[in-house]
Amino acid sequence: SLVERSGAAPAAAAPPVPVRLAGGTLTPFTVPLTVPQTLRPVLRTATTDYYSVTMHRRRLEILPGTRTEVYTYNGDLPGPTIRATSGRRVVVRQRNRLGMPTAVHLHGGATAPGDDGSGTATIPPGGERVYTYPNQQPHATLWMHDHTHHMEAEHLYRGLASLYLLSDRTEAALPLPRGQFDVPLVLRDAHLDADAQLVWNMDDADNRTTLLVNGRPWPRFEVQARRYRFRLVNSSNLRFFLLQLADAGEMTVIGSDGGLLEAPVTVPYVLLSPGERVEIVVDFSRYQPGTSVVLHNLMGPGPFEQVGSVMRFDVVPARGRDRSSVPQKLRTLPPLPTPTVRRTVELRMDEFGTGHQAYIDGKVFDPARIDTTIAWGSTEEWTVTNGNVFMPHNFHMHLVQFRVLGRGDGPPDPTESGLKDTVVVWPGQPVRLQATFDTWRGVYPYHCHMVDHSAMGMMAQMKIV
Ligand code: C2O
Ligand code: CU
Repeated sequence: SLVERSGAAPAAAAPPVPVRLAGGTLTPFTVPLTVPQTLRPVLRTATTDYYSVTMHRRRLEILPGTRTEVYTYNGDLPGPTIRATSGRRVVVRQRNRLGMPTAVHLHGGATAPGDDGSGTATIPPGGERVYTYPNQQPHATLWMHDHTHHMEAEHLYRGLASLYLLSDRTEAALPLPRGQFDVPLVLRDAHLDADAQLVWNMDDADNRTTLLVNGRPWPRFEVQARRYRFRLVNSSNLRFFLLQLADAGEMTVIGSDGGLLEAPVTVPYVLLSPGERVEIVVDFSRYQPGTSVVLHNLMGPGPFEQVGSVMRFDVVPARGRDRSSVPQKLRTLPPLPTPTVRRTVELRMDEFGTGHQAYIDGKVFDPARIDTTIAWGSTEEWTVTNGNVFMPHNFHMHLVQFRVLGRGDGPPDPTESGLKDTVVVWPGQPVRLQATFDTWRGVYPYHCHMVDHSAMGMMAQMKIV
């Protein structure tokens, strides 16, 4: 299964204890969860929604009573959410007031190469750039984040991430929980020093022990005794989340990176590597009002150590009847054409010592080099392997949503049977995937989405011609 290589096993968690932070103490589950606000368009025409975003630094309250300097989209952590609809274009003017070059990438979007945000065309300090998102793709929970060459890891870590929720008729017609019952949970970690300031060190997973959900440390969230849809997004640089409710209560996975699965899958826990999205429905009507249920990370608080907690759900009585449901048929995925080209890709990094470098197929990223040339319109099957022994990687392709065909000798995990753009690659367990390149032509990267790894070179480029 997806987690067999993780070394993590479901286990009972110790009761949460106050954590010592920034010279003070924080009792987990005291800070209320907030949900990123929806960004309002500055203009709407018959075909297009226009948005304006400013990137700037801000001192925000993350730990109660302290201020932490973060990089923001429009002053928020995460930034404000863009809600888009398939077939309606979105144009975002990004103004850079951060004092350093930036670039904005729509993760999971089929975007023209010039708007992908991943090339060498950055937004200079004080400058601006207009990104166009055609949204000629089905619904999906996408997200935006910094992708400035060599600086993506630090910029993402310092806060440049936001949600981009793309809907379509298929999704809108389903009776899933919606409105205030459709809640994004953007998960990440951070290393805060004694003054509550972010500490940035490359590949410093062990010290990033503060967990944030929508920018709040170990929050509590009051839920009615009814169904909720949660859009889980892992915006961490390196941390994996293996999420389980404290009572091991069931979660129904309805979607992944590229939108809904064909059919829901009921699981006791879900795994998210950096960059991945998983959508779940949890039915809190099975709990007595007054019950509190902690969401555990079976891979935390140290990245691969004992169980940690992420947030707590406090159940209150339902107000009104819950008319939502999870249909057995959620969508029909496009058929899988037969691949005509097969390739292998190896992800690897120096495992010991300092001054790490990271590689794809033995090469450190070079933006001037094309690593793979792909014929437009073709379908390819890629076998992605992890050349390390102790460390996981994951694999993200720009431009396309792919399908996972197999994991090791077996089939993909049922939760990764839908459309994906990022997939976990454990040591010793190659992942086979297939993609069709029938939208844009041009140069796009593929990389490990443990972004410290990609910033250290675990990135390559494909050119669709
Ligand atoms: Cu989410 Cu190349 O990135
Ligand atoms: Cu990696």
